Amino acid sequence: MKVLVTGASGYLGGRLCHALLTRGYSVRAFVRPTSDLSSLPPPSAGGASLELAYGDVTDYESLVAACSGCHVIFHTAALVEPWIPQPSRFFSVNVGGLKNVLRVYKELGTIEKIIYTSSFFALGSTDGYVADETQVHSGKFFCTEYEKSKAIADKIALEAASEGVPIVAVYPGVIYGPGKVTSGNIVAKLIIERFNGRLPGYIGYGNDRYSFCHVDDVVEGHIAALNKGQPGGRYLLTGENASFKLVFDIAAVITETKRPLFSIPLLVIEAYGWVSVLFSRITGKLPLISPPTVYVLRHQWAYSCEKAKLELNYNPRSLKEGLTEVIPWLKSLGLIKY
Ligand SMILES: NC(=O)c1ccc[n+]([C@@H]2O[C@H](COP(=O)([O-])OP(=O)(O)OC[C@H]3O[C@@H](n4cnc5c(N)ncnc54)[C@H](OP(=O)(O)O)[C@@H]3O)[C@@H](O)[C@H]2O)c1
Repeated sequence: MKVLVTGASGYLGGRLCHALLTRGYSVRAFVRPTSDLSSLPPPSAGGASLELAYGDVTDYESLVAACSGCHVIFHTAALVEPWIPQPSRFFSVNVGGLKNVLRVYKELGTIEKIIYTSSFFALGSTDGYVADETQVHSGKFFCTEYEKSKAIADKIALEAASEGVPIVAVYPGVIYGPGKVTSGNIVAKLIIERFNGRLPGYIGYGNDRYSFCHVDDVVEGHIAALNKGQPGGRYLLTGENASFKLVFDIAAVITETKRPLFSIPLLVIEAYGWVSVLFSRITGKLPLISPPTVYVLRHQWAYSCEKAKLELNYNPRSLKEGLTEVIPWLKSLGLIKY
């Protein structure tokens, strides 16, 4: 079976390509001419074949040419940033890209299944409770334009499913674990800040909630969505619901270093975010922290993955188990010292 992976040069997409090749799938990796291909396996990995197809999800012709001869599309490509200077790009890539994938499905007539990587953000925040796949984004308020674009794309995926397109939407939580350190790998980025002395305290007072999921568990969830996911099905691929405070506490235990001694109020982080955005506009380098990041931190994003456990045999590891692997990995790359 030949599968096309969009976003193959990304954090999740690269790990997905590795796993698909190991399982014997023929993989066509859809990448941009400018993509850094370091996350992709060598062409002969696992004895199966990896091909590259160049294009852009916003360029329909390049996408349809790349999908020709494929039976499955894993659509993981997205612009994953909390803030960029031209927010309209979130919509052209994250919404327009999915629309193009659906158009390709209709035009080619040979695609048997689409696995669409949505996001917990598409379902909306969960202040004070744990949500499941039945939650639909209220659409009243969005912390980030990224969240808005993923919520709009989710509605398009749902509509396509109701029209009979065999699309399975998966909703990862906050993905962490080894792999490319892109903006999508926020846990690695924050641990790097923490262990290099640039983040001296906890972020806020520990009231935030995220569902932390290991990248390899999310990859397994994607492959299970291909093999077992109901067409039109939606599956949360999340994990342990916890705060970033717990991440730092577990990191301190693993590294036998001191926990942060104080909490940095979100207002201070927001002010830092505004300054970072100003610098970003001057230097062109995207900020790690921006005001929208803080709007996200003021809400809770806790989800249940019971449906995926039941139907896809999804088996997320605990945060402690995952971090026990991640922290030595970051050290081995020389990105942190302890
Ligand atoms: N990371 C998380 O915590 C998280 C959580 C929930 C859901 N997700 C979803 O998971 C998916 C993968 O995220 P990630 O963390 O792996 O992000 P990532 O590392 O930033 O990777 C994004 C990928 O999309 C590609 N891409 C961006 N714009 C494109 C365009 N116009 N045409 C073609 N490809 C384009 C990038 O290509 P280049 O290499 O050329 O830039 C890259 O390969 C996304 O759909 C994201 O919404 C991520």
